[in-house]
Amino acid sequence: MLISAKWREGFFSLWRVAFPRLAGGGGGAPTYPPPLSADLRSACRVSTKQSFVRELGGGGSGWGQVTLVGAGPGDPDLLTVAAVKALAAAEVVLYDALVGDGILDLAHPQAERICVGKRSGRHSLPQGEINALIAFHARRGKRVVRLKGGDPMVFGRAGEEIEHLDELGIPVRVIPGITAALGCAASAGLSLTRRGVSRAVTFVTAHGRDGERFEPDWARLADPQGTLAIYMGREQARAVGRGLSAAGLPVGTPVLVVENGCRPDERRHWTTLGEMAEQGVAAGKGPTLLLVGEALRPRRAAGCGAADAVDLRALGDLGERLDHH
Ligand SMILES: C[S@@+](CC[C@H](N)C(=O)[O-])C[C@H]1O[C@@H](n2cnc3c(N)ncnc32)[C@H](O)[C@@H]1O
Repeated sequence: MLISAKWREGFFSLWRVAFPRLAGGGGGAPTYPPPLSADLRSACRVSTKQSFVRELGGGGSGWGQVTLVGAGPGDPDLLTVAAVKALAAAEVVLYDALVGDGILDLAHPQAERICVGKRSGRHSLPQGEINALIAFHARRGKRVVRLKGGDPMVFGRAGEEIEHLDELGIPVRVIPGITAALGCAASAGLSLTRRGVSRAVTFVTAHGRDGERFEPDWARLADPQGTLAIYMGREQARAVGRGLSAAGLPVGTPVLVVENGCRPDERRHWTTLGEMAEQGVAAGKGPTLLLVGEALRPRRAAGCGAADAVDLRALGDLGERLDHH
């Protein structure tokens, strides 16, 4: 009988968790607890590191549950109510570097917080280790929140994590978040679709798997009546400009570049497809989204997107009412 590699890996992960001592017994079987890589060690915050490492040595009892939570583009006010509730109830939070400051503060003070993303010059953990960490904490019977920037299902590798948990029979649910394209467009007060101007929105990445070079299908993307939201595109901005203009998109097509969208340090900058093909976009450090299409023409009004947010204190007992749901 043929057993797929994936199934085998899932089985052994489960086996390692279920029978830690046996698994450590050698005989070619995978050891448990698994050796911690340098990245995995440094991923744990100093305050939680020791307890986390101690926990790895212990067994678990009962199955926990995992919730993949969308943290939105950065502003804590843009979280869903469901996300806030899940964070408040979480015992372990595994978060990506893109998660905005202030959002983690919504987790319970005693929740274990583990950064699995790129931060302070460190590399993110390999996806396999992230999958194993999520499963490990769930198997300890913990309520685990896997917190991801934007929406977890948009360029967030959520599918791989769900598949892994499914293979192990660990319950998982998903709470959506506001994806960067929607947050950035809202910040600029611009609609991604517009009657007579744009009838489609395409979310596309200009980034290949694990940094590989990747050539999108420019002819399919170069729709003058569509809007493109290009994720992870800053470094490839020149190639994107050239590819789209060579495929027939007019060089005067507006491009809105948003760095750190929906954060206090948001930067917005307009260019055109032709200029982008020549000069790319300015290098920055924050996450950057390219929005391309006629719908992105800057608004005429000065101070666009500058209306004040509602002061939530004005909503009075909102918090109390939410508690009853
Ligand atoms: C790995 S993808 C994750 C996308 C995320 N799941 C979402 O739904 O927004 C990361 C890319 O999303 C975009 N991005 C995420 N947050 C952003 C923000 N606050 N401002 C601008 N772009 C952002 C950038 O293009 C960044 O390189």
